[in-house]
Amino acid sequence: MARALLLAHLDADDAEYTVCFTANATGAIKLVVESFPFSPNGSYVLTADNHNSLNGAREYARRGGAHVAYVAVDDELRLVDAAPRLDDVSSKRGPKLFAFPAQSNFSGVRHPLDLIEVAQRRGFDVLLDAAAYLPSSPLSLRRHRPEFVALSFYKLFGYPTGLGALVARRDALGRLRRPWFAGGTVEYVSVQNDLHSFLPDGAAFEDGTPHFLGAAALPAGFSLLAEVGMARLSAHVARLTNALLTGLGALVHRDGSPAVCLYGPGDRGARGGAAAFNVVAPDGRVVPYWIVEERARELGVAVRGGCFCNPGAAEAAFGFEREAAAHCLRTAGRDGAFTVQRFATCMNDRGDVAVGAVRASLGLANNDADVDRLIAVVESFLN
Ligand SMILES: Cc1ncc(COP(=O)(O)O)c(C=O)c1O
Repeated sequence: MARALLLAHLDADDAEYTVCFTANATGAIKLVVESFPFSPNGSYVLTADNHNSLNGAREYARRGGAHVAYVAVDDELRLVDAAPRLDDVSSKRGPKLFAFPAQSNFSGVRHPLDLIEVAQRRGFDVLLDAAAYLPSSPLSLRRHRPEFVALSFYKLFGYPTGLGALVARRDALGRLRRPWFAGGTVEYVSVQNDLHSFLPDGAAFEDGTPHFLGAAALPAGFSLLAEVGMARLSAHVARLTNALLTGLGALVHRDGSPAVCLYGPGDRGARGGAAAFNVVAPDGRVVPYWIVEERARELGVAVRGGCFCNPGAAEAAFGFEREAAAHCLRTAGRDGAFTVQRFATCMNDRGDVAVGAVRASLGLANNDADVDRLIAVVESFLN
C-alpha cells in the first residue's frame, strides 16, 4: 500500500517504476552507485551543486575506473553549460551516469528537469536527487522519466525518520549489479554450493528487515499532502520564500550598507523554499554563521549553519580560491583535529570570506510569523 501511494504521489506508472525502501535518501543513492557498472570506458557526471551523498559516489565511479566530471555553477548558483559537459563524455561507450538535484539543498535553486532528457539522449542513466524538491513540489514520472529517484520521507511530512526510498525504472534496475546479497534479497543461497539467486525486481535491493512500522505511517503522511494539495503547498512555500527574500534583502545598517548577503539567484524564478545567507557588518566583515545560528537558537528559530553537506555550491557561493582552500583545509585538518574555526582563521585575513552560511528552510509547517521571527533575529545584528 505504501509503495502504491508513493508511486501515485509521483504520478508514476507501476508497470514502469518500482519502489525500494531504504534508510534515507543517502541509502537510495548508495544502492544505485554501489551497483552501477562503472568501467574505464564509462563516466559519472554530476553537478557541482550536489549533496555529499552524490559527491561521495565519485569514489565508486573512480574505483570502477570511470571518468568523473562536474557541471559547474555560476555566481547565481545556476548550472552552466550542462549539455556541452555531457557532450564531452557522450562518446564514451561504457555505462554513463548523470546525477543532479531537482532542488539545491544549499540555495533552493531548482535545476531544469529537462536535463533528464538532455542526458538520456546522450546515453546517460539519470539519478535525480529529489530529497529537497519533493517536500513542496509535485513531480510527474510520466512527464520526466529519470532512471532513478532518491528521497527521504521525513522531508515530505516530518515523520517517519529513518525511512527513504529509491524509485527506480524496472529496466534500469535490471542493469545494476549488486555487490553483495543479504537477508531479504535472495530467493535462495547455498553455502555448500557457493550459490545465490536474487529475488526479482526491487526486492533484490531491500537489505534486511525493512522499517515496517515507519512504512505503516506513510498513508497518513500522503493523506496529509493530499488534503493540503501540492499546488496549494507550492504556492504557500513560494509566497513565504518571497517574503523572506524580500525581508532579508531590505535589511540595512544605519549607514545604509546591506546587512545580508544572500546566495543564489537575484530573481525569484525557479527556486524552492530555502534561502542561504550571511549577516554582514557595516565594514564588510562576515558575522560567523555560528554566531547567527546561536542567536537564532536563543530566540527559538531553527536555522542551519555551515555548508549543508553541499561543498560545491558553498565553494561557488563564497568564491573560494582553489589553492587557498586546499591549503587551509589541510592546515585546519592537521593533527586530525579539523574545525571550521581553524579553517576560517586560515582563509580569512580580512574577515570578509565566508566559510559557511545560514540556511532557512520553509515548508508545509511554516507561516508568516516564522518569517517575521527570522527577520527579527537578523535585525538584532543591525547597527
Ligand atoms: C538534496 C539532498 N539530497 C540528499 C540528502 C540526504 O538525505 P538523507 O540525510 O535523508 O539521506 C539531503 C538531506 O538534507 C538533501 O537535502
